[in-house]
Amino acid sequence: FRVPLVENEPMRSYSLGSPDRAKLQAAIAEMEQSLPFEVPCIVNGKPVKTGKLAKQPIPADHAKYLCTYHEADQATVANAIDGALAAKAEWESMPWNDRAAIFLKAADLVSGKYRYKLLAATILGQGKNAWQAEIDAAAELTDFFRFGVKYVEELYAQQPPKNAAGAWNRVEYRPLEGFVLAVSPFNFTAIGGNLPGVPALVGNTVVWKPSPAATYSNYLVYQVLAEAGVPAGVIQFVPGPPPEVVAQCIDHPSFAALHFTGSTFVFKKLWKDIAANLDKYKGYPRIVGETGGKNFHFVHSSADVKNAVLQSIRGGFEYQGQKCSALSRLYVSSSLWSAGFKDQLLQEIAKIKVGAPQDFGNYMGPVIGRPAFDKITSYIKKAKDAGGEILIGGTGDDSKGYFIQPTVILTKDPKSITMREEIFGPVITVYVYDDNKIDETLELIDTTTEYGLTGSIFANDRKALLHATNKLRNAAGNVYYNEKCTGAIVGQQPFGGGRASGTNDKAGSISIFYRFVSARSIKENF
Ligand code: ALA
Repeated sequence: FRVPLVENEPMRSYSLGSPDRAKLQAAIAEMEQSLPFEVPCIVNGKPVKTGKLAKQPIPADHAKYLCTYHEADQATVANAIDGALAAKAEWESMPWNDRAAIFLKAADLVSGKYRYKLLAATILGQGKNAWQAEIDAAAELTDFFRFGVKYVEELYAQQPPKNAAGAWNRVEYRPLEGFVLAVSPFNFTAIGGNLPGVPALVGNTVVWKPSPAATYSNYLVYQVLAEAGVPAGVIQFVPGPPPEVVAQCIDHPSFAALHFTGSTFVFKKLWKDIAANLDKYKGYPRIVGETGGKNFHFVHSSADVKNAVLQSIRGGFEYQGQKCSALSRLYVSSSLWSAGFKDQLLQEIAKIKVGAPQDFGNYMGPVIGRPAFDKITSYIKKAKDAGGEILIGGTGDDSKGYFIQPTVILTKDPKSITMREEIFGPVITVYVYDDNKIDETLELIDTTTEYGLTGSIFANDRKALLHATNKLRNAAGNVYYNEKCTGAIVGQQPFGGGRASGTNDKAGSISIFYRFVSARSIKENF
């Protein structure tokens, strides 16, 4: 059987007066009327209410919360691990076509029956506006499942090209021995589906710890997978408290792999913890992670100003800059800066509306929570204290929700703090470079931060494009020409970076599936 050609999920526009907008508004209203929801852990397909309750606040209206959830306690995590190990034999021996059918059905459920509910949960709980939620919880989630099936099919088809006479060589791509731990972030509901989904597709069983700030949307993702037919025990849903759940999994002798998206700090810590436990395990655990970024736009003097301005605004401020891929370092040619770039940038940003994401007129919503609000505003203050000039924004209002105005800081010091450290919020720092100092500027882009996730080069001069690409060899795992540095599409731009940004195993591509299989070569003599 071959799965037919896969297409990206078409995106809906939710334009004013459209039936799609009306349906989404109804789903949001219904969710607002029924909250807060109660979310249990799910172990072996059954809800577990530990009674250790935590809340997921609504970032645009923090007096309210979307759900209360039962945090997994030690016994629940232990049962989840045992159950995942027990469910493994049946899952891995299930014919591939049946596993594939389950994930194709999950994609259809996301695209159809669950679409508006997933969007509403992402809008209310994670503060995305409708368009950003559509990109994530409808399109990318569907794509991860559909393309995932296609990629696994391709993976299984990778066979040795040669057989000696009288023999048949073949390779089996078996799941790993043990269980996989998936630790997912708040900022993409789709990553909530992808982190347990990738290892499960190739026959692993998974203990999944979602982000506390995405608990409800991720619980819906779990429901989609269960309804599509993922058997009990194959994916165990164990929300918070993060350090305890993760430590317990990593301490277990059957821990086989970590599939992680989150901060560089936490990823490095987990890597060290895993290393310290090596003698406990049967094998060398696979460690796959996508972490932070300090992403750049390099605007050459030959660039189209209007395009570079609009793309920079989108890259820096969509979803309040809370994408690991978001633009935060903007290097602009001095001749363009004074010939309209600065004016256009400030004029366009002044039009941006910030407010509750369920109001379709708002381009930006809140940042995810109190710690994020405090961290971002403190970076703005540090930049000011260090002599940075706030060109626009710089203020926040946390009286009702965690709102921060889109902020542009102009710095004369290309190594100032907001040029170096990840902020994860709506803050762009601009460095205006001398047109005669291209190589020095490219060197700065390459060496100022420890990250290597995304970056864009804006130039109409092809030589300049290629020169910058060549000089910035390791500065970004995803490079764009004349387009913002966010918004990789599954099946089109495999996503991930190196350096401190992760293991660069490329989500949304075949590569990542290789990390969750252990190949066995068999030579049969006739
Ligand atoms: N994959 C997401 C992007 O490219 C993070 O923006």
